[in-house]
This record gives sequence, structure tokens and C-alpha cells, in this order.
Amino acid sequence: MKFGAVSTVLSIWFVSLFAREPIEPLPQHVEYDRAKAELGRKLFEETLLSRDKSVACATCHSFASGGADPRPVSVGVEGKKGNIQSPTVYNARFNFKQFWNGRADSLRAQASGPIHNPVEMGMESRIVEERLNASPEYRALFKKVYGTGRISYRQAIDAIVEFEKALVTPNSRFDRYLRGELKLNDEEMRGYRRFKALGCITCHNGINVGGNSFQKMGLFIPYKYQKGIPDRAAVTKDPRHRNVFKVPSLRNVALTAPYFHDASAKTLEGAVKTMSYHNLGTELSPEDVKAIVAFLKTLTGETPEILR
Ligand code: HEC
Ligand code: HEC
Repeated sequence: MKFGAVSTVLSIWFVSLFAREPIEPLPQHVEYDRAKAELGRKLFEETLLSRDKSVACATCHSFASGGADPRPVSVGVEGKKGNIQSPTVYNARFNFKQFWNGRADSLRAQASGPIHNPVEMGMESRIVEERLNASPEYRALFKKVYGTGRISYRQAIDAIVEFEKALVTPNSRFDRYLRGELKLNDEEMRGYRRFKALGCITCHNGINVGGNSFQKMGLFIPYKYQKGIPDRAAVTKDPRHRNVFKVPSLRNVALTAPYFHDASAKTLEGAVKTMSYHNLGTELSPEDVKAIVAFLKTLTGETPEILR
């Protein structure tokens, strides 16, 4: 290869290396089956799916709270309390695993979790089928979508998963900045630069600004450990994985207070300070906290199309 060609290749490599941002925008349109997803939405809000008919998926994953639960821990059937904060279902399709400890590989594998969990919905698949089949309205709806006379549990899960696939929040100001459609203000830009320079980006990156790795809460300065918490150690049985969780997505994070698996941070400012102290070993200046929060607020996207 001639020198000219080498230098051209090198400069292309150089440019693409630096032009590449560590965060990618969400797709503006996602493929899903509209009829199934509409049925799934109805099931997501259906209390018949819980034993005492008191809770639905939407009880703990509130559309008004960015798809998460504004309560420190969710309350399931018969007022039973869980042991971990409920994360958002928005953009969950882009997480590499589901649950804080990643014990489900897919949304399909995840969905049966809460239905069968004794402190969430406390149901058996058979009873879900009985209740849905007893409803002429559901029988008609399922017949239209799945073309069968009898509703199966699998179909119900299939519809819920299709709905979850539609829960994408595109066109946040940050995504529009990445696409070159607008400029962020100075403070937001400074926050993004600090987010990268401090190292937040090493764990919170990619399409979901998180959701793609397991990391320790308290990497630099140990964080209090609660026995029995469903952390990664509960899956791997390895004590080194205590307080290791799937890194949460920071998309729509301004809407999903309280923060962390134990809901210990009530505000975004508090969460940013705790994170930087425990996971980077640095105490941030008030200006840095303010700028990073301003940047995080640019990650709020549009309401998913199916909910509009
Ligand atoms: C009683 C409250 C409650 C109900 C009802 C509930 N969830 Fe959850 N959900 C949670 C909690 C708490 C977690 C986190 C549990 C964990 O990680 O160990 C969770 C986790 C999830 C996740 C994983 C998200 C992620 O980023 O890991 C998805 C997806 C989800 N729920 C969907 C559903 C669906 C679908 C239903 C209805 C079939 C449902 N949930 C019903 C409380 C609830
Ligand atoms: C070593 C990996 C790592 C680094 C570095 C890191 N985080 Fe985190 N972040 C995590 C993990 C893991 C959690 C979940 C912790 C928990 O719930 O106990 C988290 C949670 C959060 C949350 C709460 C999200 C929610 O929904 O509860 C925010 C906000 C956050 N991080 C922001 C930041 C900021 C800002 C920085 C840089 C100052 C940063 N993180 C650096 C791994 C990291």
C-alpha cells in the first residue's frame, strides 16, 4: 500500500474513532404487532392476573412514573411488600438481561416471574387461563388476534411481551443532539463531558445508557449489604457478586425516582452524589452535580407511541 492510501485509511480510522459517541440514540420507530400489543396493554393493566385481583403489572410499573414505581418497594397481592425497587419497563427490550440480577434472559422469560411470584401477583398459569376464558370480552379479543377459540397462558404472555416491545421512548433531546438535530445548552454539554471524563460512561453506555453489564454497587467504597437481596450472587452463588447488579438504564431517569435497588436516593442529585462516591471514589463539586443532572434530564424521551 502507498503512503497516501495508508494515511487515508489512518485518518478515516482516526475520525471515526473520535466521531463515535459511547451512547447511541434509540430507534425512532420499532417494529411490533399492533393488535397483539394493544391486547398486551389491556393485560398489562389487568388486575384479574393477580390472585386477589388487586394488582396489575401497571400497579408497579406506572406509565406516569417513567414505567417504574414511585414507591420505595412495590406492594403485591394481599399488601405483601417486595425486597427490591421496581425498575422501569420502558426500553427494557434493549437490556441484555432482565431483573436487577439478570436472572431472566428475555422479556418472555421475565413475564412469568411476577405472575408466579407469591409476593407480586401470586398466580398459577392455569388460573390465569380459567379467568381469561371466563370473560366473553377476552375470548373475543384473543380470537381476533390469535384466531383460536380457547385462550392459553402462552398467548397472554406473548401479547404482554409484544406490548413491552412497543414501550420505547425515542427523540429525547440527547438523542436529537446525537443525530445533529439540536444543540445542548452549555450546562448540559458540560454535564455530558464530565459524565465521560469522570468515568460514569464506563458502566452507563450504549443504546440504554446502561442495561448491558453487571457491575458492583460500591466498586471503590463499599456500599451497605442487605442479606437476601436478589443481587447477582443470588444467581451465581459467588460471594464476590454480592451487591453486583445489572447497571440500570439512565434513559428517562429524571422520571423514575426513587433510585437504586434499595430506593435509598430520593432525588437525582442524591443518586449522582452516591454513585460518584461509591463507584468512582470521588466527591463531586456542587457545579458538577448540577451539570450532570442537567445532562441526565436530556435523556427523557417521548411517551411511547402506543400510550399516546
Ligand atoms: C408487585 C409489583 C410488581 C408487579 C405486579 C409486576 N412487577 Fe415487574 N418488577 C417488579 C420488581 C420489584 C422488579 C425487580 C425485581 C428484581 O429485579 O428482582 C420487576 C422487574 C420487571 C422487569 C425487568 C426490568 C429490568 O430492567 O430488569 C420487567 C420487564 C417487568 N418487571 C415487567 C412486568 C410485567 C410484564 C408484569 C405483569 C405480568 C410485572 N412486571 C408485574 C415489580 C412488579
Ligand atoms: C462501576 C460501574 C458504575 C459507574 C462507574 C457508575 N455507575 Fe451508576 N450505576 C451502576 C450500578 C451497578 C447502579 C445500580 C446500583 C444499585 O441500584 O444499587 C447504578 C445506578 C445509577 C443511578 C440510579 C439509576 C436508577 O434507576 O436507580 C444513577 C442516576 C447513576 N447510576 C448515575 C451515575 C453517574 C452520574 C455516574 C458517574 C458519576 C455513575 N452512575 C457511575 C454502575 C455504575
